Amino acid sequence: MTLLRIDSATFGYPGRPVLKDVTLEVQPGEVVALIGPNGAGKSTLLRAASGMLRPSTGRILVEGDEIASLTCRERARRIAVVPQAAHVPEAFEVLETARLGRTAYLGWLGRESEEDEAAVRDAMRRTQTQGLESRRLGELSGGERQLVLIARALAQKARCLLLDEPTAHLDLRHETTILKLINQLAHEDGLGVLIALHDLNLAARHADRVALLARGRLRGLGPPDQALTEETLSEAYDVPVKIFRDPSTGSPVIFAASR
Ligand SMILES: Nc1ncnc2c1ncn2[C@@H]1O[C@H](COP(=O)(O)OP(=O)(O)OP(=O)(O)O)[C@@H](O)[C@H]1O
Ligand SMILES: [Mg+2]
Repeated sequence: MTLLRIDSATFGYPGRPVLKDVTLEVQPGEVVALIGPNGAGKSTLLRAASGMLRPSTGRILVEGDEIASLTCRERARRIAVVPQAAHVPEAFEVLETARLGRTAYLGWLGRESEEDEAAVRDAMRRTQTQGLESRRLGELSGGERQLVLIARALAQKARCLLLDEPTAHLDLRHETTILKLINQLAHEDGLGVLIALHDLNLAARHADRVALLARGRLRGLGPPDQALTEETLSEAYDVPVKIFRDPSTGSPVIFAASR
């Protein structure tokens, strides 16, 4: 079943329309990258997809149900969001943060079951954050913090994962660790992933499909090889873009050419 379906949706903020008539699906087992210039609406689309922002027209369906019809608890069991790491409560401990992922499952006394504890342990193992468990978020590096936020999202055991630029400000090793994990989650565990990425080369290498947002609309959608062309990217980013092939992997290498 389609995990997430954005169906002819138009959304934005009061007095500021951002995206018009977007139709986009995320299937189990795939990574879909949202790309586009600053202000194109990547974060806004993720907000709409998580139910935080209601479309003015069109619908957003999660596993076939309209997102607005789900309770917060049910929504959190189906969709997990990894926000940008910049905004975290610094005094929180890592284990405590990962446990927040289980909020939607706790009983009325708020006690954690063995299943909750196992989900938290598993999420920390997958993200290699066990060693950090009693550290405070404010004392971690940006990359470590990002991994903790992913652990919290994984503990939710949702089938659909939304991430907003999880590799921003990370070094090459952390960037690779996170993107490898995201690929595993989709391709081995069958999650559906929608991820906003700035870096077009990362999107080309790690996404099964890319969705290009620009000038208020979805301008391209498909496998990187087909959707990322010099022409569409030059127009979307308003700068001449060149694409070469990496001779060893065949994946595109994209960069802005000087005018
Ligand atoms: N809370 C808000 N209220 C009003 N306008 C907003 C709000 N958040 C974002 N916007 C506007 O909506 C548009 C899309 O912003 P959004 O943050 O979705 O872009 P983005 O593609 O994520 O950009 P970036 O690459 O810089 O993260 C921008 O014009 C922005 O100024
Ligand atoms: Mg953004």
